[in-house]
Amino acid sequence: MRKIPSRFLAALAASAACLAGARAASAPAEPPHLVRDGDRTALFVDGAPFLVLGAQANNSSNYPAVLDKVWPALDAMHANTLEIPVAWEQIEPVEGRFDFAYVDTLVAQAREHGKHLVLLWFGTWKNTSPSYAPEWVKFDNKRFPRMVDRDGKTSYCLSPFGEQTLAADRKAFVALMTRLAQIDATRHTVIMMQVENEVGTYGLVRDFGAKAQAAFERPVPAEVLARQPAPVKGAAAGNWRAVYGDYADEYFHAWAIASYIEQVARAGRAVLDLPVYVNNALRDAVEPLAPWKSNFASGGPTYDVIGIYKAAAPHVDIAGPDLYDPASAQIDATLDKFQRPDNPLWVPEMSDAPGYGRIVYEVLGRGSLGIAPFGIDYTTYANFPLGAQANGGPAVVEPFAGAYAAFGSMDRLWAKWAFEGRTRGVAEGDDRKDQAIPLGAWTATVSFQQWQFGDKSWPNHPSEPPPGTEKPGGGVAVAQLGPDEFVITGQHARVRIDPAQPLPQGHGAMFARVEQGHFDAAGRWVMERNWNGDQTDWGLNLTATPVILKVRMGRY
Ligand code: DGJ
Repeated sequence: MRKIPSRFLAALAASAACLAGARAASAPAEPPHLVRDGDRTALFVDGAPFLVLGAQANNSSNYPAVLDKVWPALDAMHANTLEIPVAWEQIEPVEGRFDFAYVDTLVAQAREHGKHLVLLWFGTWKNTSPSYAPEWVKFDNKRFPRMVDRDGKTSYCLSPFGEQTLAADRKAFVALMTRLAQIDATRHTVIMMQVENEVGTYGLVRDFGAKAQAAFERPVPAEVLARQPAPVKGAAAGNWRAVYGDYADEYFHAWAIASYIEQVARAGRAVLDLPVYVNNALRDAVEPLAPWKSNFASGGPTYDVIGIYKAAAPHVDIAGPDLYDPASAQIDATLDKFQRPDNPLWVPEMSDAPGYGRIVYEVLGRGSLGIAPFGIDYTTYANFPLGAQANGGPAVVEPFAGAYAAFGSMDRLWAKWAFEGRTRGVAEGDDRKDQAIPLGAWTATVSFQQWQFGDKSWPNHPSEPPPGTEKPGGGVAVAQLGPDEFVITGQHARVRIDPAQPLPQGHGAMFARVEQGHFDAAGRWVMERNWNGDQTDWGLNLTATPVILKVRMGRY
């Protein structure tokens, strides 16, 4: 990750028009990379911050014959980036013989369809399992050992201490990056790489094989001690048990897997230096922290071991949460825990069930590099009940298309505003309660289940909620352009803006302008109409179809 160069600071301070100019003129040789400014990070693609409006295809859509069922879904969703696997088994079905026909086709078609790519390296671990490793790997336990438990019983999961496994995975990943360097080094179709998928181990806290056990008895490496405080008081130094007590087994396994991934990522980045992240099947973010008890995949980059991943895997830029628990308290707590100064927010995967549409506003409002619902293609697969019931056709993308269309018309601008710390966002909670967004001298109050006229607190107001708001589905994102000026988008929500502090007696505040419009291709605002009267008297009512509002407040 790079620190922000001063020339970018100057560019970022400039106007939206300047940004648009930068976009039009940009074709720099620099590959996509992360730029850090204090606590905030942006993904720079072709010289400017980029917002990933992503969509992840189903697991087995990674074949040329299926791609024509993928692109139409992304178009209908207004997604700008496809996340899709590249499986070890498909590029190296026979050891040492690589086949990049799929990768070549994928990259060429992405360009034809005007999409970027985030490639998911399904190597040693896919949802912890070796299912995507070639057969010559996954059935040869001698060369490519599986983990063993305390009694020597073999686990399904490949050991992170398998030296030949690491060498083989690394070799295949380097071959993939070499191919990408040949076909995409100057085009930047591929903007990020995910190394492995939802790593960790179910049912076994760590490897108890001889190599693992010897490493477990050795002192915790200094860089881990520096970045991963012990949750309970232990020794300041010493072996894993001495330092981390009951957390030692999980933390050790996290270190072992992160160290393995580091080797793969570092070797790949030496060939083509793209941002790299890992994704995570989450542990409960609300319950008090406690040692592993078979309740999540041990060793994955769960929130409690991000420090270990940072220490052991400096070539992995981000640990990203995969959001599949719809409870709003879980989502809020998870985002809080993963968004850290040393870990930019990036949501690489999220359920595509309808209720998740509102999460787009919360995540992008928090300044995430982007987001990507999972299972987006027109194959007939649906991962219901984890995801949507819809399998194929427009219903799959419906929960996200409106939000993506709105953000899509200002994606580069939004990414720039996020990098400048100007964006905020909320999603309707399961409690349906109002939420406040602090905006300097102003506070936006977001309420839900409001009819467009009047207020639900009125005695004779209809008691039933407006159609489409029976379940939590509201979301609002705000970018603060100036002290009194905001860009607002959202759905199924009402936004009121009031002074954060009471104004002196006899003074008040009101909307000066509430323009509905869009940003053109050059990033210039195009006003379509000005909202007034009924459209503003009760607040700004955002319905099922998201719009973009440019709002200016005034005082008298
Ligand atoms: C999360 C994984 O990362 C995906 O590949 C997929 O298996 C989903 N879970 C479930 O559909």
